[in-house]
Amino acid sequence: INIGVFFGGTSVEHEVAVITAQQAISQLLEMDQYKVIPIYISKDNNWYTGDYLLEIEHFRDLKKVISESHRCHVVKADKCAHLIHAEMKLFKNPYICDIDIAFPIIHGTGGEDGNLQGFLEHMDIPYVGCNVLAASLTMDKIASKLFLQSSGIRVVEGEWFYTHYWNQYASSIIEDLEKKLSYPMIVKPADIGSSVGVKTAKTRSALIEAIDFAKQFSTKILVEKMLDDMREINISVLGDSEKLKLSVCEEPLSASEFLTYEDKYINEAGSKGMSSAKRQIPAHLSESLKNEIEHMAAEAFIALDCAGVSRIDFMIDQKTNLPYINEFNTIPGSLSFYLWEATHVTFKQMLEEMIDAAYR
Ligand code: DAL
Ligand code: MG
Repeated sequence: INIGVFFGGTSVEHEVAVITAQQAISQLLEMDQYKVIPIYISKDNNWYTGDYLLEIEHFRDLKKVISESHRCHVVKADKCAHLIHAEMKLFKNPYICDIDIAFPIIHGTGGEDGNLQGFLEHMDIPYVGCNVLAASLTMDKIASKLFLQSSGIRVVEGEWFYTHYWNQYASSIIEDLEKKLSYPMIVKPADIGSSVGVKTAKTRSALIEAIDFAKQFSTKILVEKMLDDMREINISVLGDSEKLKLSVCEEPLSASEFLTYEDKYINEAGSKGMSSAKRQIPAHLSESLKNEIEHMAAEAFIALDCAGVSRIDFMIDQKTNLPYINEFNTIPGSLSFYLWEATHVTFKQMLEEMIDAAYR
């Protein structure tokens, strides 16, 4: 089976996505049934292939990565020859990667949000992970919140608006936010991962500053109430709506009020991405809280029609002991393999189950 691993990508999470993909590629290379075809998407959205892309160390120099690999185009393995020929002409003789199945391992914009999935649908190539709708719904923190709310699943309370609206009506938006949510609040661009553009605000001036900062990253802004005395708990779900498994829970440990990009990938994490961030696995939770988180995670994964592996991030309000879904990651950092290892599912078994689900 020729498995095309798509990685890199044009989002602000490019570097993290390279780490996640390389972790998966090194496992797939050891699995006899697959031939890995790497498809690296550069930050300027050109597609490359070649063996040079199979070595994580090479990614310390992105210019060399590009000069040592080949521009490519992707087609389904059994696509008819005349079409390939036409496409080769169109793309000025790039390499043709003929793949049986695609494995998108790109965080954020372009790769995790339904865009790549739409391309693969168009090319008639089966792919691992969420379908177009599930990917785009989950990437947009506003859309997924509204969807989960209407499915009766508890989510963190929030309000949203367009940035063009903010530019005109900032003071009435602030008034409205203060009426509906109380400080502290957390401000997020609607559709960016890895906490990029996210800031907390305890005062009106900090709120204005946080919104001005977040609007650089998206056209929609989400403002949520920060739960009092909150704990963050994450869990991973593997499979699809028909057949799924739940991992143990983790409690990420952060020096900041929320897990920043630096906490996730820079502070001590070195080049191991999400798998080396500080965390408690399994998280210390009462049996009833653990059961409720598992139940909500499965319900949400099914409601959104997810597939592959998703890490679902929860907030626990320690005053009430109630869990709230905070957000979804349908191509999570390190594919959350460390949560599966703690659940006695090896990284390879996890990949196998993700690929199996793509063929169901
Ligand atoms: N978006 C990143 C990679 C994560 O939360 O896992
Ligand atoms: Mg997250």
